[in-house]
Amino acid sequence: MDHSNYEIDEMISAKSIAARVETLAKEISAYFADTDKLIVVGLLRGSFVFIADLVRELDLPVEVDFLEASSYGNTTESSREVRILKDLRGEIEGRDILVVEDIVDTGHTLDHVLHLLQSRKPKRLMTCALLDKPSRRETGVKADWTGFEIEDKFVVGYGIDYAQRNRNLPHIGAVRFTS
Ligand code: IMP
Repeated sequence: MDHSNYEIDEMISAKSIAARVETLAKEISAYFADTDKLIVVGLLRGSFVFIADLVRELDLPVEVDFLEASSYGNTTESSREVRILKDLRGEIEGRDILVVEDIVDTGHTLDHVLHLLQSRKPKRLMTCALLDKPSRRETGVKADWTGFEIEDKFVVGYGIDYAQRNRNLPHIGAVRFTS
């Protein structure tokens, strides 16, 4: 599929994202208030901007780790086969974990990652997704905290890419193909 021409329509402003991140961080901080340490696990690469903003709003002792699972190639088709490309650096047994995802689309990525991490026996395993496309779901997975529910549109910005581009947009935009 070659979509070389496209425009990006702003969908969620940088200001709305910042306000929502602040609220999510308050709820997450309240939920984990008694933790000795929260390990925030960012799913690469799409969550890197979100996690950077979220951890700075958390009022908790925090450690950050990353995991990379394969999802899309350079296309807009979802892949059902999930592979771990980069595993966590640290042990998570007996620890409090918050998995941070950019978008829950079909749900296969988050489902796979949660099964993997659960097998390592964390104390609490919770999830936070910036965006959720419930109409696309093919699994039973749902994030414990969601920033915004969106309709079935291909989005970019705030860390999220289309063919590795547009991650640096400060807002979330919907891709509209013009040819
Ligand atoms: P899932 O396994 O189908 O839930 O897909 C999750 C991953 O697909 C996300 O972490 C994104 O990396 C990617 N993805 C899903 N929807 C979009 C989109 O609209 N734009 C860019 N990437 C997306």
